[in-house]
Order: sequence, then C-alpha cells, then structure tokens
Amino acid sequence: MQMDSFDNFKTDCVEIDKQHKEIMKFINLFCEMFSEGKNKELLISTLLTLENIYTDHCETEEIYMKKFNYPNTEKHKAEHFKINQVFQGAKQELMQSASLVYIKTLKEVMLNWFSLHINEFDKPLAELILSHS
Ligand SMILES: [Fe+2]
Ligand SMILES: [Fe+2]
Repeated sequence: MQMDSFDNFKTDCVEIDKQHKEIMKFINLFCEMFSEGKNKELLISTLLTLENIYTDHCETEEIYMKKFNYPNTEKHKAEHFKINQVFQGAKQELMQSASLVYIKTLKEVMLNWFSLHINEFDKPLAELILSHS
C-alpha cells in the first residue's frame, strides 16, 4: 500500500490527523532504513521512537473516548493493543536479525492495520470529537 496520498486517512480532526501522519512517516522511515542496511542499534531506536509516538497517540484517543463517552471504547482500545503486540514481536525479530522479507511484511501489516483501523474506529471517534468542538 502506498502512503503517498494521505487523503484516504483523513479524519478531519487536525490533532488526530497530525499524529497519524507522524506514525506513518516513522513506519516508512523504519522500513527504508532497514532496506538501506542501517545498523541494528539505529533500527531498534527508530522502532522505539515509533512505538512511543504510537503509544502517545493511543493515549490521546483514549482520553477523548473517556471525555466524550465514546460507545466503542473497549473494542477500540483492544485494537490499539493489537499493534502494540506487533511492535513487541518486531523488536524480538530485530534482536535476532530480521530478514528484508520480514520487514516488508511488517510494513504491510502495520499499514493495512492502520488503514482499517482509521476507517473503522478513528473516523467515528473523530466525528464525535468534532461534534463537541
Ligand atoms: Fe484508534
Ligand atoms: Fe488513531
């Protein structure tokens, strides 16, 4: 999946869109760095940065869920947790020298998850946020 066009992922909530863009930027950066053969320490630190950005983003959304009584909170949070597990698996793989095929698959998994997640979960949440602004 190409991330060149962000339009399909826009929720119209500026704060959420900005964070989504940053996450996607880091997913792409991490995969590029891997393809370029950057050293393991650098790859792991980039993955940790991505994980931190992602965790902060989930926190932002979850604060809004609570604030505005979002009806699908538990399911949405469970979805957030799923990608967290993906990050943990990726860290393990990197420690044991991951292959380029693995990283390409990882990118696909992350971007596909992101696309489905934004459409199914984040867009309705953004609508709720916007309805209160
Ligand atoms: Fe979300
Ligand atoms: Fe999100």
